[in-house]
Amino acid sequence: MGSLLIFGGSGFLGQQIIQEGIKQGHHFISVSRSGNQHVASQLKFHPQVSWVEEDILLHNQWEQYLPHIHGVINLIGLLKENPNKHRTYETYITHPNHIIVQALKNYPNIPYVFLSAYGTGPFISQRYLLNKRHAELEIKKELNHYTILRPGMVTGRQRPSSIFLGSLIKVLAFIPTKNNRFREVYPTSIHKVTTLCLEYVQKTGHYTLNLIPKNYQN
Ligand SMILES: NC(=O)c1ccc[n+]([C@@H]2O[C@H](COP(=O)([O-])OP(=O)(O)OC[C@H]3O[C@@H](n4cnc5c(N)ncnc54)[C@H](OP(=O)(O)O)[C@@H]3O)[C@@H](O)[C@H]2O)c1
Repeated sequence: MGSLLIFGGSGFLGQQIIQEGIKQGHHFISVSRSGNQHVASQLKFHPQVSWVEEDILLHNQWEQYLPHIHGVINLIGLLKENPNKHRTYETYITHPNHIIVQALKNYPNIPYVFLSAYGTGPFISQRYLLNKRHAELEIKKELNHYTILRPGMVTGRQRPSSIFLGSLIKVLAFIPTKNNRFREVYPTSIHKVTTLCLEYVQKTGHYTLNLIPKNYQN
């Protein structure tokens, strides 16, 4: 098993991917601003994980790992922006993706997995999706081997509110109204997203996977 570079390995999805990937024999280099400060104790000092503390908008030390890794997963993102705190969709979606994609152009054989989204539902700004689609376009233009995963809402007990909200969305999505916006964020389990990330980060070729039920897709 090879080494995987994961951006945002300390987050909700990231920790689950690392946990499952370790069982499959992968080694991980996780890059995030907080390194391993907020990760679960069983992962904090795990011998198969190196935690790198770096803001990729400011530094590029992580590029030194590229010659030795077999796949890249990008989980950097943000659901609600706060421009007063410089937390915008550009700084959390488009720019980080741009930085990673430009670096990966020098390593055309490394598969790249990008966590996008299928829709926004009634709660999240359309700007979120616009930035995700913008990032997708750059990936498609610049890389040979990539997977774009488009889930609705991701549910897992590691984020307890997602379980309640996910159940509510399932019920609301069922209501047969015209243009039911809950359908575009129909929940996907963290287990499914994790499994797909680990499977597709080892695949060559290019894939875009919509992870909501077919009858709810536009
Ligand atoms: N959760 C969902 O329901 C859902 C649904 C659809 C799509 N997605 C997408 O899936 C991805 C992962 O979601 P998530 O819920 O796991 O997010 P999350 O918990 O907020 O994780 C984001 C990760 O990115 C890191 N990060 C942010 N800015 C960074 C920077 N400049 N440099 C380095 N690392 C940075 C964060 O760590 P630091 O803060 O320490 O830097 C954190 O580890 C996102 O792109 C999201 O849009 C999520």
